[in-house]
Amino acid sequence: MKVLVIGSGGREHALVWKLRQSPRVRQVYCLPGNAGICQEATCAPGDPRQIETLLAAAHQLQPDVTVVGPELPLSLGVVDEFTRRGLKIFGPTQTAAQLETSKSFAKEFMQRHQVPTAHYAVCTSEEELRKSLGLFSTPVVVKADGLAAGKGVVIAPTREEALRSGTDMFSGKLLGTPAASVVLEEFLEGEELSFLVLSDGERVAPLAPSQDHKRIGEGDTGANTGGMGAYSVDSLADPQMTEWLLNHVARPVVAGMKSEGMPYRGILYCGLMMTARGPMVLEFNCRFGDPETQAILMRLESDLLEAIEAVIEGRVSDGVFRWSRDASCCVVIASGGYPGSFVSGKPISGLERAAELKDVKVFHSGTSAHDGKFLTSGGRVLGVTARAPRLSAAIAKAYEAAAVIRFEDMYYRKDIGARALKPTP
Ligand code: AMP
Ligand code: GLY
Repeated sequence: MKVLVIGSGGREHALVWKLRQSPRVRQVYCLPGNAGICQEATCAPGDPRQIETLLAAAHQLQPDVTVVGPELPLSLGVVDEFTRRGLKIFGPTQTAAQLETSKSFAKEFMQRHQVPTAHYAVCTSEEELRKSLGLFSTPVVVKADGLAAGKGVVIAPTREEALRSGTDMFSGKLLGTPAASVVLEEFLEGEELSFLVLSDGERVAPLAPSQDHKRIGEGDTGANTGGMGAYSVDSLADPQMTEWLLNHVARPVVAGMKSEGMPYRGILYCGLMMTARGPMVLEFNCRFGDPETQAILMRLESDLLEAIEAVIEGRVSDGVFRWSRDASCCVVIASGGYPGSFVSGKPISGLERAAELKDVKVFHSGTSAHDGKFLTSGGRVLGVTARAPRLSAAIAKAYEAAAVIRFEDMYYRKDIGARALKPTP
């Protein structure tokens, strides 16, 4: 079989790497890929945000199935367009992707289907925002409706700051484009959990649980990023918790989407806060997480292609995944300055040495190649990922590998997974 993966990040590198392990996959293409991906797949140039480009690539490469990495092509309806032309593709339709692309849609949907989530108010004007703010204690969470690459969420310590952020979301000052609505949300405290499930529109199968580290700084301080590291270990959600999350979150969402005429097929990423009142949904994503996927797929022992086909053919069952009991950890190495401005084009060394380490895989995100050398070409550059029977060993191994990699101004957090290792008081 021939598979086309759309995207160019660490998540897509992990997808390509895993799909290549399938005995049934003969060829993997990636559009556009990155320097690391292009060593393992045939890369096709093009802008993944242009549906016409993706259709032309599918026409030329004739993949048996296309797997979409990022949310943007999904939000533009790539699945609808491919399906209309009889092309097999993995991911939700444009309408189903609203669970990620519209915060107000997701919140209202959760309310209709009794999915646990924080109290909220959808505001469509500054006036409404001002009024609704009175209903919330501080800190209060302010979210711009629409895709914002992790930059659309502000945790405001005071109502004045919340009003300022909300106003900047409406005017477009905060994100570049004006938000049509702003969601106010009760601030939740607890540990975050990324609970991903595979759905064929009716049935779901959980992926291994994981935790992301969204802030740039150690101790979860500083600006929000796309994700600075992740780990996956079974103890993040024991079988009882997994069943609870399936029954109270994943299954009601999938049944609700079906009953509302927009069956959800693909990966449903449930971003949860594990609060004292129980798990609450912070957000849905309509795709694999990045960097969670790097950590999760490191633990997948069964064939990823089989799982993808089970979705397309409507036969997802508990048996589609087999997970290693090992834990895994992915440490993201970023360009200094990220998530603000940074300089690209820095030569990267140590990749060969890191590749020699056992049970380690370095996934590329923002890299390019020049004269046989790897250069940085993005904010998040590499995802150094390791697995081991114990989480502490997986973390140590990921850091051992990260330590042999060098580029000017590189930055990574030293505390990925550290909180999970502390004994609970
Ligand atoms: P979201 O894009 O909605 O997941 O928000 C990004 C990040 O902001 C989350 O991963 C949380 O760390 C934080 N966040 C979002 N909503 C809340 C909330 N209601 N309470 C506390 N933190 C939140
Ligand atoms: N790691 C968070 C995300 O993929 O949205």
